[in-house]
Amino acid sequence: MAKIRVCRADDLKPGMALRVENDSEPIAVFNVDGDFYAISDTCSHEESSLSEGYVDEDIVECAKHGAMFHIPTGEVRSLPATHNVRTFGTLVEDGDLYVEA
Ligand code: FES
Repeated sequence: MAKIRVCRADDLKPGMALRVENDSEPIAVFNVDGDFYAISDTCSHEESSLSEGYVDEDIVECAKHGAMFHIPTGEVRSLPATHNVRTFGTLVEDGDLYVEA
């Protein structure tokens, strides 16, 4: 499992998201009320970046057609997407935020 550095943890504020490149697929990292979560960046409906979606508490709405996903679990919460997205582990070490992928 690779540990990918995202940024300084303090730089990803609550309600914000960042896209991280990974060998297999891009990953979207979110700060939800001070907790960090990582899910596949690519919407399971079509090709759209979830890190560019609209965040409302622990839900991200895809900017392309409006599918909604629960950020902590990757569960799809509304059409037109019908499949969950993958989740990844996150950790903070010495003030740096990492994704485990
Ligand atoms: S690409 Fe995300 S809802 Fe269609």
